[in-house]
Amino acid sequence: VQESFEIVSSSGNYAVTIGRDLLAGVVALDPNAIFLIDERLQNALPPSAVKRIVVEAAESRKSLEVMPEIILALREHGANRSSHLIAIGGGVIQDIATFAASIYMRGIRWTYMPTTLLGMADSCIGGKSSINVLGYKNLIGNFYPPEEVVIDVDFIRTLDAEQVIGGLFEAVKICYARGQRPFADYLAEGPTWPLAADVAQRLLTRSLRTKKWFIETDEFDQKERLLLNLGHTFGHALEAATDFGVSHGVAVGIGMLIAIDYARRRDRLTGKGHECAAQLEEHVTTMMNLVVASGVQWPDVDLSKVMQKFDNDKKHRSDVYRVVLPIGDGALELISEPRDDITREHLHASYAAVFAGLGIAMRAEAANALA
Ligand SMILES: NC(=O)c1ccc[n+]([C@@H]2O[C@H](COP(=O)([O-])OP(=O)(O)OC[C@H]3O[C@@H](n4cnc5c(N)ncnc54)[C@H](O)[C@@H]3O)[C@@H](O)[C@H]2O)c1
Ligand SMILES: [Zn+2]
Repeated sequence: VQESFEIVSSSGNYAVTIGRDLLAGVVALDPNAIFLIDERLQNALPPSAVKRIVVEAAESRKSLEVMPEIILALREHGANRSSHLIAIGGGVIQDIATFAASIYMRGIRWTYMPTTLLGMADSCIGGKSSINVLGYKNLIGNFYPPEEVVIDVDFIRTLDAEQVIGGLFEAVKICYARGQRPFADYLAEGPTWPLAADVAQRLLTRSLRTKKWFIETDEFDQKERLLLNLGHTFGHALEAATDFGVSHGVAVGIGMLIAIDYARRRDRLTGKGHECAAQLEEHVTTMMNLVVASGVQWPDVDLSKVMQKFDNDKKHRSDVYRVVLPIGDGALELISEPRDDITREHLHASYAAVFAGLGIAMRAEAANALA
């Protein structure tokens, strides 16, 4: 059985449908549609879908420099103001589609079918795009939600453990951010690897209905939605310091562990908060062990480089670091920490403790710096 709900947005409402075997229906709906599809998935499209723009889902492709190619391809397929773009792929394809659809002839209709768990659980709603410019990641972007989001959970079958669990980390982040009850309900669905289609559908429904509350309450990232950055500032530093040798979802999982360790280290949790945070920590650790068991190799990490990347994050202010932490009874808050040596020592200690716990090797330079 499939499920549908609506997202209310200032640029128009859009429907989200989650189910199995939905691709054929989407293709049949509009014979004139132009497809923007991940190269890896193009065989999933029936031959009747003739207008195709095939893109390699590489970070280097979601850049401003590549946009002229996409725009030109749209033009060559005869796209006009009433054309309909159907994007099929993960976050890279989503970002390209959002941006291209928003600017082509001042904006055309588009539909999104996410095919990675990260896309399905999190990024497919909210309407954001992030585009790289001349090597700078996610430097520009906009809001341009699709007209419809169609999630076909059958795409999950070909994803590996790291991709699935990384997506689940975004899902659990959303549910934890909403409170104890949504978090408990999420865990009760039994997120694990391998992920059965019916369990996936229930987890995705919970994650997206919960994210719906955040984006409808705070469409443009002013307050509540910022809590969805849990794990992200810590995680981005790790991604950047390893040249993206750690995938985004897994880095977010590690980032959540660091946020918990840091909150504990700075005595920010009360009795109840310790319990909630420990529950999240235990769940993330269990899932991380499944990633490791699947054969993922951690890159060696230079901790001083991670700290430097953390320090450079554009979300901080000149005098304070800004991080989302579980505070008090365990609820999340966006916290400002003084940008001083004491904070940095504790941050360093949290990174080192979490890396050691996961068996992530720290390079000699970092080990010396610790001594
Ligand atoms: N716009 C947003 O709100 C938002 C949010 C989070 C992340 N992002 C962006 O998304 C990107 C990462 O997202 P992602 O992990 O979904 O990215 P992705 O599109 O890079 O996909 C990751 C890999 O999975 C492959 N893949 C896709 N679907 C598959 C399937 N069904 N089976 C097997 N392989 C499949 C792709 O070919 C690619 O190699 C980053 O560029 C990030 O900045 C955007
Ligand atoms: Zn994320």
